[in-house]
Amino acid sequence: MGAFEIAVMGGDGIGPEVTAEAVRALRAVGKRFGHTFTLHERHVGQAAVDVEGAAISEETMALCQRMDAVLFGAVGGTGVGDPHSRTEPMYSLFRLRKDLELFANVRPVRPLPALLGSSTLKRATLRGVDLLVVRELTGGLYYGQPSEIREEPTGLSAVDTMAYTEGEIERIVRYAFELARDRRKQLTSVDKANVLSCSRLWRRVADRVHADYPDVTLRHMLVDACSMALIRNPREFDVVVTENMFGDILTDEASMLTGSLGMLPSASLGARRTRHGQFGLFEPIHGSAPDIAGQGKANPLAAILTTALLLRYSLGLKRAASTVERAVRQVVAAGRRTADIASPGETAISTRAMGDAVVASILSE
Ligand SMILES: NC(=O)c1ccc[n+]([C@@H]2O[C@H](COP(=O)([O-])OP(=O)(O)OC[C@H]3O[C@@H](n4cnc5c(N)ncnc54)[C@H](O)[C@@H]3O)[C@@H](O)[C@H]2O)c1
Repeated sequence: MGAFEIAVMGGDGIGPEVTAEAVRALRAVGKRFGHTFTLHERHVGQAAVDVEGAAISEETMALCQRMDAVLFGAVGGTGVGDPHSRTEPMYSLFRLRKDLELFANVRPVRPLPALLGSSTLKRATLRGVDLLVVRELTGGLYYGQPSEIREEPTGLSAVDTMAYTEGEIERIVRYAFELARDRRKQLTSVDKANVLSCSRLWRRVADRVHADYPDVTLRHMLVDACSMALIRNPREFDVVVTENMFGDILTDEASMLTGSLGMLPSASLGARRTRHGQFGLFEPIHGSAPDIAGQGKANPLAAILTTALLLRYSLGLKRAASTVERAVRQVVAAGRRTADIASPGETAISTRAMGDAVVASILSE
């Protein structure tokens, strides 16, 4: 029985709705296994701008540094502003990832057998898919400078910068090799080496690091070819490692293998160790979904599955993590569906009702 400290930030749109269900799942785990989770709820995103004047306050940043883990919902609205501005919702995520040195974003993609019919792809394509995308999270186009819109005598122009150091590439590729070693030992490194200098350096570093992992197979793939192969034959992938933006786009695509964006959790991990494991920030891969916010339609399963990653990676509670994943499998096997994963003719239940079903399943084991 352990005692753990977790920062909880629901954020904007459906973020607070799905995070509330994730918190209920966490509390059910606490009750079932006798663990104490002390939760520190804070504002983030537009919600924090409205109350505290910045998308994340310095007090919240300092709190996160002391926690065992951070449970995060989603931030953003319908607008698009510069994420480097303190009053833009996305600033909070950029700041958390950079300051907490969360360089590895791990996104498991495993379609649940009961949901094979929820995907637009054929069942035969999806059966047995079990892949892990490792996205570099603190470099590339998201952080490179300059990044701005400029007024020139000839009119407006814009620039973004993709930049990577050898060290940044090596630590993420090495991390992916380690993960592949514990799985099916196949690593696909995805880049655009036929166009980008960053990708050519990426390839060179991946080949060099490969020498330390002779038991793992390494193949390089161009990102355009990878986006096609992910849909054509997703079973051919074990671990995929790629840079920040390619990973962002490829995992939204990969979410369709599971039926919905509302099914995919993620763990953002860094080098810091806690008393129980690896410090991390855990969030569903989806955004704040303003189109369905406040309507009780959001699928909370991605957020609930993030708690399983949090329990496993940061708190070292493997049994509790498996209990959450089993509960999610059980509720979908029992036919519970939110609107995004309901096939024609199936009744859709609300965010809260889905959370109720998961909590009941966790407690009933
Ligand atoms: N990590 C984050 O906080 C994060 C990630 C992506 C986008 N965003 C932000 O979110 C806002 C909206 O972006 P978007 O609409 O392009 O992406 P989105 O992921 O919010 O939504 C895309 C589509 O998927 C649906 N969807 C997403 N999550 C769902 C869920 N749990 N259940 C059911 N349906 C779900 C939405 O209704 C929408 O139709 C923007 O401000 C964007 O910047 C934030």
